[in-house]
Amino acid sequence: MIIAVDGPAASGKGTIARALARHYGLPHLDTGLLYRAVAATVLQMELDPTKEADAVAACNFDEQMLADPALRDDELGKVASIVSAHPLVRAALLQRQRRFAQQAGGAVLDGRDIGTVIAPNALAKLFVRATPTIRARRRHAELQGRGSAATFDQVLADIRARDQRDSSRSAAPLVPASDAALLDTSFLSIEASVEKAIALVEARRGS
Ligand code: C5P
Repeated sequence: MIIAVDGPAASGKGTIARALARHYGLPHLDTGLLYRAVAATVLQMELDPTKEADAVAACNFDEQMLADPALRDDELGKVASIVSAHPLVRAALLQRQRRFAQQAGGAVLDGRDIGTVIAPNALAKLFVRATPTIRARRRHAELQGRGSAATFDQVLADIRARDQRDSSRSAAPLVPASDAALLDTSFLSIEASVEKAIALVEARRGS
C-alpha cells in the first residue's frame, strides 16, 4: 500500500506521515529532505540556487547529509523551495522517490507532489492543510524551542512566501491531487489529526 501525504510547510504532514508509517509498519520518506540536501550542497559549493544548472550540479549530494538535523533549519527550507522550482532538479530526484514508493510491501511518502507526480496511483492520498497563521504559530513555537530569535511576523512572512513559490511554480506545483482526501489540522491536536488520517486511509482501503 502506498500512502501519499502532501501539504504546505508546517501543516502537520510530516508528523502525520511518520505516525501512519508506524501504524501500518511501512517505511517512510520525507521527500523535503532531498530538496533540502540539494539546497545545502548548493550553498556548500558556493553556487547560485536560482540557476538551474547550479542546482542540478548539487543533486548528487552526499547521502550522509540526509541524517543531519541541520537540514531542517528554516533557512534551508527557503533555499530548498528555490531549487525545487527547477524542472531539471525535480527530474533528477524523481526516480529515487518512485523507487521508494514502489518497493515491495508499500511505503509512506510526504512532500508536495507525491499524490500528483511521484505516486499518482497511491491507494490513499491525503492533502494536509492549516491556515497560514496557525502554521506560523506552530513553526514559531518550534523555532523558539530551538533558541531562534525569529519573530512571529518573520515566520508568517516566510510561510506566505514559501506557499506562494511552491504553489505558483510551473513544475509540480503544490496542489491537491483530484482524488486526495483533505485534512485540515488548524483546530486539531496532533493525536486527533493522526486519528483522522488513519480513518481516511481506512476509508480508502475499504472502498
Ligand atoms: O517539506 P519541507 O519544508 O522540508 O520542504 C522544503 C521545500 O522543498 C518545500 O518548500 C518545497 O519547495 C520543496 N519540496 C518540493 N517537493 C516535495 C518536497 C519538498 O518541492 N515533494
